[in-house]
Amino acid sequence: MKRDNPIGVFDTGVGGLSVVREMATALPRERLVYFADRARQPYGALPHDIAEGLVLESLQFLLDQGAKAIVIACNTASAAGYEASLKRFPIPVLSVIGPGIPAACAATRNKRVGLIGTKGTVESGLHARMFADCDPAVRVFGQACPLLPPLVELGKVEADDTRLAVETYLHPLLEQGIDTLMLGCTHFPFLHKLIRQALGSDIPIIDPNGYLVQELQAVLTRHNCLGERQVGQEEHRFIVSRYPDIFRDVGSMLLGKPIRHVEEIMVGKPVEGYEIPEKDMYDPKKENAVRRFLET
Ligand code: DGL
Repeated sequence: MKRDNPIGVFDTGVGGLSVVREMATALPRERLVYFADRARQPYGALPHDIAEGLVLESLQFLLDQGAKAIVIACNTASAAGYEASLKRFPIPVLSVIGPGIPAACAATRNKRVGLIGTKGTVESGLHARMFADCDPAVRVFGQACPLLPPLVELGKVEADDTRLAVETYLHPLLEQGIDTLMLGCTHFPFLHKLIRQALGSDIPIIDPNGYLVQELQAVLTRHNCLGERQVGQEEHRFIVSRYPDIFRDVGSMLLGKPIRHVEEIMVGKPVEGYEIPEKDMYDPKKENAVRRFLET
């Protein structure tokens, strides 16, 4: 593990930039290589074993780019591939599922915690198992929100469609009487404003990203491997398997600073043979797909 090497960050799209945003504050001297597997997104609608294979391929790609450690900045990919990655890679790999759980257990009073994420994340039951280890009295109410990642992917973080989708997804959780909400998808910190408006002011929103970055900092310190980049020296690398221009524009808006260059590299083969109802919603040319879905 060499301190000058970059940290690999993986998500299927722009969601992992919410982790990058935290890293910029806590670890400004690290160089990053970010890979978004936009061509094969969403992983959240795929069967577990297929998603696991895609995660391992994507992480191997980051290792090949010289990553000294990898952050799986995606709940879906963490649920599908984190465990398998531990046996496979010779560098530290960190999962976004886990670091926020003690904070959520500490926040809940009535032990009813809401979880929002992709279908893959919610159905994996991984959060519920980790909550049970942390505090067996906690009940987790999961809500899959398949429309939200594509809306963020297209930069619609404050659009009316997005507000409607957020309200629709949170309504059943409020009906269940949750008093704490866990963000189980890295796209969702970018929807914080709409989520807060739909929840009201009393329900804490637990974003695991800050805790994840603290864990990363501890791992790098333990391996004596903290980066020493001079700020402004070398730029991060951003690589996507499809739609580099959209990633550059939306990513710059979400990060609040310009991403100057995005490389396009296909990793592995396209996923074929699966009916993924929300696939069209990720396609910038089919922007109205979400609206059509909401109207049905
Ligand atoms: N950002 C990803 C997550 O945290 C969702 C993307 C996907 O389904 O591919 O789960």
